[in-house]
Amino acid sequence: MDRIFSGIQPSGSLHIGNYFGAIKQWIKLQEKYQCIYGIVDYHAMTVVYDQKELPDRVMDAAIAYLSAGVDPEKSALMVQSQVPEHTELTWILNTVTPLGWCERVPTFKDKVRQNRDNVNLGLLDYPVLMTADIIIYKSVAVPVGQDQLPHLELTREIVRKFNSTFGDTFPEPKPIISEGALIIGLDGKQKMSKSLDNCIYLSDSPEKIKKKLSTAVTDTRRQRKTDPGVPQECNIYSLHKLLSTPQQQQYCHQGCTQASMGCFECKKILAENLINELAPLQEKQQFWLSHQDQVREILHQGGMAARAIAQQTIQEVREKVGLWK
Ligand code: TRP
Repeated sequence: MDRIFSGIQPSGSLHIGNYFGAIKQWIKLQEKYQCIYGIVDYHAMTVVYDQKELPDRVMDAAIAYLSAGVDPEKSALMVQSQVPEHTELTWILNTVTPLGWCERVPTFKDKVRQNRDNVNLGLLDYPVLMTADIIIYKSVAVPVGQDQLPHLELTREIVRKFNSTFGDTFPEPKPIISEGALIIGLDGKQKMSKSLDNCIYLSDSPEKIKKKLSTAVTDTRRQRKTDPGVPQECNIYSLHKLLSTPQQQQYCHQGCTQASMGCFECKKILAENLINELAPLQEKQQFWLSHQDQVREILHQGGMAARAIAQQTIQEVREKVGLWK
């Protein structure tokens, strides 16, 4: 089976934007590929972080992904720093990567702007480590969000450079972009994002979901129930498309355009469907929260399985680049 790798930042809670935008797709990919999903703690160290909290954040991420449906029987869920071959390969790739390629990456420029007090070399090297994450498993594809495409482009360039210098070694990994629409936040304007505080989290209680949806921005044409709206321009309607039956969608569409249904009722149907969608996931979350030893064991097993592959690759690479035996 072809292999794919994707990396998960250990940044705690997941929201429905992560879920519909990416994770649901990863779950599906488990059927077709040998998947390795890595919690990338080395990447998390490139910005200011709390060393006492990092292990908890790795645990949170593992629980979130297990609850969302990453199946340890099918995929390897692992922690990046448990497989030191990732960093060993990074060093070797550093030596074939021109400095200018890394300086050109748009996320590097953004991060320099955002982290004026901590412009460390790791920020520059971030995409090279990401490249190592992917190619140490000879992955053929990488499921990522749109924002990661410049990194993937750099990965492909590094692979071409390595292969032409030392002989064909790595496949050029292709991005797999989620077909799930970009999820807009409760403000109705910007992408759902933790830093913008416009999220519904996978762990939000039914009461919280109802409350958050009740104040979520809808089509601004609808000041009163008697104002007809344009569902295509309403964020709540775009969520209906992900969560509601065709009949419910039609019912809400008609109610909105004919001004026969208020936003309140429309949101109520959505809230119920979202709560039902998240219920099994939240049940699993409760389970894993009280079985953290089992989570540790899953990460340990995933790490060993990943490492067995990584060691084969690094051995081949060491020989190709002429390191001492
Ligand atoms: N840069 C990715 C992000 O911020 C995380 C990541 C690290 C990654 N290594 C990866 C993603 C390898 C895909 C493949 O989301």
